[in-house]
Amino acid sequence: MDRIRIRGGNQLSGTIPISGAKNAALPLMIASLLTDKTLTLRNVPRLADVNLLLRIIRNHGADMSMDGKRAGGDTLAGETVHLTAAEIVDTVAPYQLVSKMRASFWVLGPLLGRCHEARVSLPGGCAIGTRPVDLYLMALEKLGAGISLDGGYVVAKAPGGLVGNRIVFPKVSVGATHTALMAAVLAKGETVIENAAREPEVADVAECLVKMGARIEGIGSSTLTISGVDRLHGATHDVLPDRIETGTYAIAAAMTGGDVLLKGARPDQLDAFQQVMREAGIDIKACDEGMRIKRNGSRLLPISVETRPYPGFPTDLQAQLMGLMTKADGVSTIRETIFENRFMHVQELARLGADITLQGDTALVKGVDRLVGAEVMATDLRASVSLVIAGLVAEGDTILNRVYHLDRGFETLETKLANCGADVERLSD
Ligand code: UD1
Repeated sequence: MDRIRIRGGNQLSGTIPISGAKNAALPLMIASLLTDKTLTLRNVPRLADVNLLLRIIRNHGADMSMDGKRAGGDTLAGETVHLTAAEIVDTVAPYQLVSKMRASFWVLGPLLGRCHEARVSLPGGCAIGTRPVDLYLMALEKLGAGISLDGGYVVAKAPGGLVGNRIVFPKVSVGATHTALMAAVLAKGETVIENAAREPEVADVAECLVKMGARIEGIGSSTLTISGVDRLHGATHDVLPDRIETGTYAIAAAMTGGDVLLKGARPDQLDAFQQVMREAGIDIKACDEGMRIKRNGSRLLPISVETRPYPGFPTDLQAQLMGLMTKADGVSTIRETIFENRFMHVQELARLGADITLQGDTALVKGVDRLVGAEVMATDLRASVSLVIAGLVAEGDTILNRVYHLDRGFETLETKLANCGADVERLSD
């Protein structure tokens, strides 16, 4: 199994290209199941999660092709993927595939919308809290689906097709919003989704669905109004840049000091994050090419933050921010309000010398003068990259085990960091 070795101490300087967003690419690929025509997605990141979802989509009958690499092409550029689900040959999403990635559960919406039935295994994915699916099922029931559970599978049926309705989410859920939206575009009549997730990735999917012929109003807001259509057609869509990858490299740059341009980043989607970084004393700015981060010797100031649905501070950057605050000049308070049990990185950061106390959903992070390299273990996707961030300033070698968590969501992480001067390499057994 691959490991990553990081020798701390180097400043990051240079340019890091930002990849397409994993959290947009996955639901966009799933949207291809809604039409018998071709959906072409550009700027798809090369990630283990993308490859796994391709397997799941092909299992339902979609054909997939990818544009080949051109000589002299940018090796870090995203891929162009053509997906054609001319016929859905199987409405079952099996346990063996769905259990590996939670987002694959989202095929439920399009399968039900197009085929009026689906049998989808209950999901797996990152072990961060219990992550139930009650909101997904509530939304689909509102659209007229009959739902039952059978042997670890959700069985959903709407023999006469789905019918539009008002769906009010009691809690903001990205996945439940994607699912309700993708189910509603082919339902009869009007659906109104209230308290919808406003994450930019939800808006990106909605914009792609509109290109495919869907009728959606309120994109980017918490109320989505969908007028169902009989069928969708093909389209071409560019996956938006990954704001979590952007924030992660911004934190890495802030941690080491130096000057990094995050090329292609969308700073307008990271307002809350930028505010927190500025409070920490980081020079962070939007620029024509993306976003620029500098810290030249200035102190890292402690912060107080809590995670919130978009436009709040993202839970997917909580672990990385905690990594940064291990070196701040004082005590930071980081409260996790989205997922319980999303603090598994705390114990691993402690192995590097971090001083963190947990009080329920809040972590008190007391900055330390020195982190010292050690062998650590990746526990989930975002947690693992917080260890990389700490490793970049730890004295000596940090060895990160279970790198497959990282490969699920970060494209060529070690190359991107090494190109900016980090001493990092992948060790393959
Ligand atoms: C998505 C993102 C993930 C991010 C999360 C929150 C993808 C592929 N994943 O995950 O990276 O961390 O949004 O921004 O886009 N909940 C329920 N019942 C449900 C569904 C969710 O109680 O039926 C709860 C969850 O347990 C959690 C909260 O709602 O406490 C938010 O979860 P949700 O937004 O659904 O996360 P995901 O869509 O799984």
